[in-house]
Amino acid sequence: MKIEVHPDATAVACRSVDVICSALRARPDAWLGLPTGKTPVLTYAELKARTSTASCDMNRTTACAVDEFCAPSENVGTNAAFYAEHLPFCGNLRSPSAAAPDPLSEIKRFASAIREHGGLDLCLLGIGVNGHIAFNEPGSPRDSRARVVDLAATTVRAHAEGFGGEDNVPRQGMTLGVADILESKSLLVLATGASKAAIVAAAIQGPVTADVPASWLRGHADVTWMLDQTAAAGLNHAQRG
Ligand code: PGA
Repeated sequence: MKIEVHPDATAVACRSVDVICSALRARPDAWLGLPTGKTPVLTYAELKARTSTASCDMNRTTACAVDEFCAPSENVGTNAAFYAEHLPFCGNLRSPSAAAPDPLSEIKRFASAIREHGGLDLCLLGIGVNGHIAFNEPGSPRDSRARVVDLAATTVRAHAEGFGGEDNVPRQGMTLGVADILESKSLLVLATGASKAAIVAAAIQGPVTADVPASWLRGHADVTWMLDQTAAAGLNHAQRG
């Protein structure tokens, strides 16, 4: 496990795009896992800037969602809407359909396409304040696969703004499972801001447990945590490097 601590969220974004671009230079037809949320927004802005100057080429890249809401329409608040806003420059974007009539089949089909590719080449992740990765909420086992899940109350609250109020947030989502995520060749976890300090410390230093799904990442051979100073504040000195 590697841990990088950067001065601020902008530095995390720049450095995360260095890693993405270097992965794409090594394999232009890579499949990337790209999360939604507030954390990766700066990364995607930087990625847009670099792809527009051709210092990073995503023409042959496939970008994959890691989760999606089960929602009546694709339009507002969904991850598909997020991608349309923040990743319009990704030509080949794969995302399960939020409004699929059979969400379990939908996410299983989505995950098996990733498995047929050989797993994601690089999967970016955020971490929820409750330790979730994608929509693998606390209680998610190490061997969990793509499935439909009930969203934790903290996750529903965190998405209230995007859906125009907490009451409108779907209560279920589709997610790649922990085991699907761990089949990625490399993992890059982004966390910024003081609200993440306690859960980052728990995931990196606490017990490896389903109570903190991000702690499962410690079993992966190539995982990098990219943190800003405030998100790293709970780590002990040795781990901050
Ligand atoms: P955030 O979400 O980036 O909005 O904090 C992270 C997550 O829930 O995975």
